Amino acid sequence: MIGSPEATRQVLVTNAHLFKPTFPASKERMLGKQAIFFSTGDYHAKLRKLVLRAITPEAIKNIVSDIESIAVDTLRSLDGNLITTFQEMKTYAFNVALLSILGTEEAKYREDLKRFYYIIEKGYNSMPINLPGTLFHKAMKARKELSRIFAKILSVRRGTKEQYTDLLGSFMEESEGLSDEQIADNIIGVIFAARDTTASIMTWIFKYLAENPSVLQAVTEEQEAIIKAKEESGEEKVLNWNDTKNMPLTSRVIQETLRVASILNFTFREAVEDVLPLFRNIHHNPENFPEPEKFDPSRFEAPVKPNTFIPFGSGVHSCPGNELAKLEILVLLHHLTTKYRYSMIAPQNGVQYGPFPLPQNGLPIKISLKK
Ligand code: HEM
Repeated sequence: MIGSPEATRQVLVTNAHLFKPTFPASKERMLGKQAIFFSTGDYHAKLRKLVLRAITPEAIKNIVSDIESIAVDTLRSLDGNLITTFQEMKTYAFNVALLSILGTEEAKYREDLKRFYYIIEKGYNSMPINLPGTLFHKAMKARKELSRIFAKILSVRRGTKEQYTDLLGSFMEESEGLSDEQIADNIIGVIFAARDTTASIMTWIFKYLAENPSVLQAVTEEQEAIIKAKEESGEEKVLNWNDTKNMPLTSRVIQETLRVASILNFTFREAVEDVLPLFRNIHHNPENFPEPEKFDPSRFEAPVKPNTFIPFGSGVHSCPGNELAKLEILVLLHHLTTKYRYSMIAPQNGVQYGPFPLPQNGLPIKISLKK
């Protein structure tokens, strides 16, 4: 296991060609062996190019208002309820992932895709035994159903000759020559990469803000100022997580949560000797971040030391979805803080792993519209 910024850089960036990402066998079978995570060399470079093209900061600007509709609907459906934050944020992250993959067509396929994907998910950490009745077997069957739905969407799209700018459109471009199976493996892979990660971070943000009311208050004021500025200028409001001029604290809250929660504790790499770069150790080393267990967004007021803040990894396999993740977090936070109040059911100190670290029981909260 390696936990220093320099050694991690050696494995993930400088000598990345000597190391191959690996995953548990059931996950590899479930996601599909041609998915981006397991690939190397030219095929990997091509997949990264196709993924990045659809979710660059430029490209996702066009879907901010659609993400907002999803965030507004999500929060509205929670009003007045006792909820499990993590479960609700999983639904939010799933819907945003589908939006990035299928554009606004996603609403048409959402329920079918959800039904089968949720069965697959139960099989991710199951024993890879393909016998009737096992979780693994059910998940493999659901996987076939999902591939069938994607094949249908592909054939409808190919019939229209329209240009699609979403992720599926990027994968299906003829000159890239991906097979339907390769496309399905990578779509399922992106949903997997996008969902529990973003939902876990959102859940930690709810917790840290509830525990730090003065920070919550200051974030709310920052977000209200954005609404006010929009009303005064009459200009379109475009939320941008990197807008450190107008929302310095909100951006820092997102960064600080990525650091403290370090939900991807590590990443697997296989070499002559297997190694496990430990992100959490880097983020929780007092030499890099004094009093590392403390939630303190102000630590991001000054630039951090190089290679010490890598919540999205580093090098050739680093997270291509990081801009989308930060955008959807910000959009939800904007609508949450400006329109709702919420409280935790009881002080929450436990952590559970599923496999990402999460507040105990997914953070039960009570949430309602501000009066
Ligand atoms: C807060 C949320 C997220 C976190 C913390 C996160 C973190 C990471 C990390 C650390 C890696 C690198 C793993 C490694 O080196 O083995 C990664 C890879 C990846 N992520 Fe994310 N991610 C998040 C959200 C997303 C979203 C929203 C998407 C897609 C829209 C996404 C798509 C991917 C993909 C496709 C890879 C594989 C890249 C490759 O192998 O080249 N992630 N993510």
